[in-house]
Amino acid sequence: MGCTIIGCGKALPALEVANDDLAKLVETNDEWIVTRTGISSRHIAVDETGTDLAEAAARAALGWSPDGWCEASLAPEDIDLVIAATFTSDALVPSAAGLLRERLGLENAIAFDLNAACTGFVYALTVAETMMAASAAGFPGAAGRNPIRRALVVGSERLTHVTDWADRSTCVLFGDGAGAAVVEWDEARPGILASFILNTTDDTGALSCPHAFDAPVPFDADGVAPALLDGAGNVPYATMPPASHADDAHVAALQEPPLQTVYMDGQKVFKFATEAMTEAIHRVLERSGVALEDVACIVPHQANERIIKYAAKKLGLPLDLFQLSIANVGNTSAASVPMALADAYAAGRIKRGDKVIMVAFGGGFTSGAVLFEA
Ligand code: COA
Repeated sequence: MGCTIIGCGKALPALEVANDDLAKLVETNDEWIVTRTGISSRHIAVDETGTDLAEAAARAALGWSPDGWCEASLAPEDIDLVIAATFTSDALVPSAAGLLRERLGLENAIAFDLNAACTGFVYALTVAETMMAASAAGFPGAAGRNPIRRALVVGSERLTHVTDWADRSTCVLFGDGAGAAVVEWDEARPGILASFILNTTDDTGALSCPHAFDAPVPFDADGVAPALLDGAGNVPYATMPPASHADDAHVAALQEPPLQTVYMDGQKVFKFATEAMTEAIHRVLERSGVALEDVACIVPHQANERIIKYAAKKLGLPLDLFQLSIANVGNTSAASVPMALADAYAAGRIKRGDKVIMVAFGGGFTSGAVLFEA
């Protein structure tokens, strides 16, 4: 018995931007980008919201559109849980999963977001599987909690909206998209055989993206900021915008536009990525007792084709065991693994009974893998 993937889909924004177009923005060229990353183009969400992309991917995974791979189409009321892995949701509240639940009419589902950067989908799948296993096992107290039998797990990102388009070392890497998987607890199939998720301290600050919710706060370390008080000892906050205190450094600092773009030290992340990927693969093999030679397909996070090639070499595996999907999508963070999984299913690379590993790494640092029987 286990948590089994029964549907998978992906969605990309309409606009595809080639490397040559990026050479109009920064000093770069197609040859450098292709050689160093394996990326030729990426899709950029201009008109699509994150919810639009997640909805299209989810519809494909649920069998509600012909674009995905699906063993059995489900009805909206069948879904008990929606987890959206993202760090670029359309809003903080409602969550991306909540918006998706509403769009799809999943009346019975609970829905929440999870941020583990590019490893988000692997984390989300692990959380969904753990909730389902606990629900199925009837662990002490499970009867008093939400029964979770089927879940929709989505990775959706609009990374190009947190990209510094003047930074050639990062802007050539990222793209937008969404991938989705439908999982079901099946008494007759093993499904997920092992998972491994890990946080490692990023003490060098090699990968980060600050948030932007910097609404002015009328306080300093001692309480209500004295510079904001009017003659009567009150803060005329509602009637007087803080920006009008032109001479107030405290307020001025709060008015600075937030810099909400991804910062990355590529070489440090590259080193972390190759080590994290090989470790996560070894750990799920150990935990499941499956031999590496019995794995039919590895679906890695698509951050850089060179990272995947390096990991394949380190593991002594042929590159064709790995699903390579980066060429026309770039790095789509949490959407990357489910989109590559959808590609692998669409290409007929994964057949019933196959042992498959999904593996990812990302900011935080986070890393992890899931080994499942299809
Ligand atoms: N076009 C042309 N030249 C570029 C460039 C671009 N887009 N970006 C950087 N360069 C230049 C650098 O300035 C440097 O020039 P210099 O030698 O004159 O100083 C040169 O290319 C080499 O840069 P370097 O950073 O050493 O390249 P690299 O081989 O390490 O490749 C990355 C850079 C970002 C592609 C690579 O480090 C990487 O993929 N890292 C991991 C990224 C990742 O996985 N991120 C996501 C984690 S979830």
